[in-house]
Amino acid sequence: MSISKSCVTILLLAILPMGARADQTDEARALASQLTQQLGAALKKTLAATGPEGAIAVCRDLAPAVAGELSRTSGSRVARVSLNARNPLLGSPDAWEQQVLAEFDRRTAAGEKVDSLEYSETTDEPHGRYFRYMKALPVQPLCLSCHGGAENIPDQVKAMLASEYPHDQAIGYVLGQVRGAVTIKQPIGTTQ
Ligand code: HEC
Repeated sequence: MSISKSCVTILLLAILPMGARADQTDEARALASQLTQQLGAALKKTLAATGPEGAIAVCRDLAPAVAGELSRTSGSRVARVSLNARNPLLGSPDAWEQQVLAEFDRRTAAGEKVDSLEYSETTDEPHGRYFRYMKALPVQPLCLSCHGGAENIPDQVKAMLASEYPHDQAIGYVLGQVRGAVTIKQPIGTTQ
């Protein structure tokens, strides 16, 4: 009896942390896909209706608005970051995110598909413990009119980007690269 009880305890101890972790990853995955799906749908619709000049507003206004809304409702910070940010104020990665993005680039160069790149980890920081998750965003054909090479970007879009984003680094991408990632940071208590 006592043996089977302790077996159960050991089993639970072994399973529970993994279970909690899997739940957190599932939740983060769901948040990341809500963001990419909402933006992708709006981008496709607006690109078809108005072309890339009109769709700039989707990326400029809708992306931070949807990320902010998901952050408020989930209690996690939800954002998009890149090693080559267009908007350095919102899109610059912190040290942990920089490492993960660099690792995504390495994994892409080694032949992994960008679509499947994700990473999660529990981190201890001075202000507490966090569950962190990142999901890579691949450069797809519809991204090129605003993030591709000079030959992909219409002149009007170039002019708008130059005036709205004087520090833009998010151009010159080719299909299949990592454009950036959705990043999710969830507080899970204190380190004490
Ligand atoms: C119509 C133009 C346009 C298209 C198409 C577009 N983007 Fe962007 N993208 C922008 C703009 C403008 C910003 C800056 C948003 C801001 O001010 O926060 C941006 C920012 C981003 C960021 C945030 C990090 C940064 O660089 O500031 C990511 C990640 C991103 N885009 C990925 C993509 C991906 C992936 C696609 C294709 C699925 C795509 N974009 C298509 C215009 C575009």
